Amino acid sequence: MDHRIPLPPTPVLETARLVLRPLAERDVPAIQRIFPQWEVVKHLNAAVPWPYPDDGAATNMAMCLDQRAKGEKFFWAITLKGDDELRGRIDLWPGDAGVRDSRGFWLDPLLHGQGLMTEAADAVTDYAFRVLGWPELWLTNAQENLGSHRIKEKQGAELVDVTPHAYVGGPGLRETWVLRRDAWLARR
Ligand SMILES: CC(C)(COP(=O)(O)OP(=O)(O)OC[C@H]1O[C@@H](n2cnc3c(N)ncnc32)[C@H](O)[C@@H]1OP(=O)(O)O)[C@@H](O)C(=O)NCCC(=O)NCCS
Repeated sequence: MDHRIPLPPTPVLETARLVLRPLAERDVPAIQRIFPQWEVVKHLNAAVPWPYPDDGAATNMAMCLDQRAKGEKFFWAITLKGDDELRGRIDLWPGDAGVRDSRGFWLDPLLHGQGLMTEAADAVTDYAFRVLGWPELWLTNAQENLGSHRIKEKQGAELVDVTPHAYVGGPGLRETWVLRRDAWLARR
């Protein structure tokens, strides 16, 4: 178990347009409505059940709340300011050269392309580096996932390697990146 576990309670994080608040049981209907769309799942890990079952969001929520209770991961509901409804999710956990992953995110396709995940990712990254003082984040995406790739690039992450991986959309290549605290603080 990582020495940074258990994590502190999930804080509310605000950006110019978003409020990131702790994921909650009441978010299940919104997730079950938004998440099972090809635009959302195609570049996600093949472990995501597809076709998505009717109880997919409820089953996943139980897992998230359990991990949260053990202090293993942070889970934020992405909401628009002035509206508490979940529009997407961003997760954060400690990664290292062994775990090689420390963040995940998805957003309602109706809201893609407006810079919203850039905002959410920046807020969560700032929290990891400035508040928690973590030395690095490990980040991954399917090579074809240009939006996710670009967010890493814009944040100043270094590409570590490209390896085969199974995605919901089929076999592909996974880019693994490391984003270092020193590089992040130097850019801001
Ligand atoms: C990946 C995802 C979170 C991006 O969210 P978003 O809010 O649309 O991203 P942003 O608007 O902040 O865009 C980030 C950058 O990527 C670029 N970008 C976004 N989508 C793109 C696409 N389909 N093709 C090329 N570039 C894209 C944007 O232009 C922007 O770069 P810029 O600032 O240089 O213009 C969103 O597409 C999503 O939810 N996808 C499904 C789930 C998923 O794949 N999650 C990531 C798994 S690793």
